[in-house]
Amino acid sequence: MTVCAACHPCRSGCSPSALQSASMQGRKTDASSLMVNDLTKSGGTDKIGTKDHGSCRAAGAFFEEGDAEMELTMCCPTLFGLEGVVADELRFGGKLTEVRAENGRVLFEGDENTLAWANLNLRCAERVLIRLGVFPAKSFDALFEGVRALPWEQFIPKGGAFPVKGHSLNSALHSVPDCQKIIKKAVAARLGQVYQQSWFEETGAKYQIQFAIMHDTAELYLDTSGAGLHKRGYRANSNAAPLRETLAAAMVKLARWRGREPLIDPFCGSGTIAIEAAMIAQRRAPGLLRTFDAEKWSCFDAAVWRQAREDAIGMTDGSARFPIVGSDIDPACVQLSIENARKAGVSNTVFFEQGNAVERDYSVLGVLFANPPYGERLLDVQTAEKLYTELGRALAKSPMKQYILSSDPLFERCFGRKADKRRKLYNGMLKCELHMYFKHSPRPSAKIDRNGSAGLTKNS
Ligand SMILES: C[S@@+](CC[C@H](N)C(=O)[O-])C[C@H]1O[C@@H](n2cnc3c(N)ncnc32)[C@H](O)[C@@H]1O
Repeated sequence: MTVCAACHPCRSGCSPSALQSASMQGRKTDASSLMVNDLTKSGGTDKIGTKDHGSCRAAGAFFEEGDAEMELTMCCPTLFGLEGVVADELRFGGKLTEVRAENGRVLFEGDENTLAWANLNLRCAERVLIRLGVFPAKSFDALFEGVRALPWEQFIPKGGAFPVKGHSLNSALHSVPDCQKIIKKAVAARLGQVYQQSWFEETGAKYQIQFAIMHDTAELYLDTSGAGLHKRGYRANSNAAPLRETLAAAMVKLARWRGREPLIDPFCGSGTIAIEAAMIAQRRAPGLLRTFDAEKWSCFDAAVWRQAREDAIGMTDGSARFPIVGSDIDPACVQLSIENARKAGVSNTVFFEQGNAVERDYSVLGVLFANPPYGERLLDVQTAEKLYTELGRALAKSPMKQYILSSDPLFERCFGRKADKRRKLYNGMLKCELHMYFKHSPRPSAKIDRNGSAGLTKNS
């Protein structure tokens, strides 16, 4: 690791080696009112270039004085399986060229306009982080030095709150609480030096620091979103097993549904798929109903966020109507969906009704999305599998394209047809498959073993 010459180990009363041995697993570091005892020798003004994907180095600042342009490396964590969908949102929606999809995340470059756009418009990403640096961190000293070398003062003002959270995997520094403490101390040391203060009240806006240590390499981020991006602001209430909004939107995107044909979700629950589809069809930005942490950051121009919101509102065609129907056997779910659609502003185009999915008429053309009970949170496995069989019978002669999400490896056998394609997706921690039927002729019964299948598979 290349460490800035002025950096030195933590002298503020915490011994990295002592922390390493302390058994503090599971405890959260107190993020407020941190005292920095000794900053006399702390590092200078070394900065890490945002495009530095390697070791710690002194390079250009994020913000140059009088320079409105800044280049940031941003990172969107995604649900596993959605990396490509998010990368496409950035490439085609955001018109970005430098987009790199990796396992569970997508990295891209841009300025604060990009950052505001991404928060407001991405439908399938979990949050938008600014990546401040990447460096090797095999010891607490290395972690402290690497963190302190980053230009935190360019983001976090004097009174800013900077809680720290993160995770560590396959690394010497495995104690997350200890890493949190070291990072907190290192940021405080840096800010204390710059602001000439030793006490941080942290009463201002929140600048959530996130870290990830993987294979002894630390990555440091600032979370610009606050609440996860799946929290759109329309679903205050949900049924017992709601689908994450980012995953519901991804199902619609994977099917390339754009409002030109009828859509039905016969297991609508709290209405997530139907509402996300309506928002896609009306080009309604998913973030318009909520705020983001970075909107309160003094380092960013409020006009940028105002403009991004205005642009997003300008893109919306709220009068556009599409035939979208959701139904559920439970009348309480129907009521919930109606309420959520109203909050989302799409009640002019989404209709909900009570009904048994296996008794519906599926003879019309269109697209069906379904997230039936898996036997995990709702129903037991046997009842869920019986439901799949009945649903398969009801849909056997339907001309509809069908996209059905299930975690049951026996889904296709119960449903009675082999999917034309399947895609592995995660509903939270639950591994699922999206079974896609888009070739109209009914296919013969599938023989699938208990292990099911993996990844995107094409049948022919
Ligand atoms: C996994 S939940 C769907 C969650 C939904 N995607 C959401 O985001 O809220 C399954 C739903 O299927 C409904 N359901 C169960 N059996 C049904 C049936 N035979 N017909 C219609 N709905 C049924 C349940 O009431 C439940 O709301």
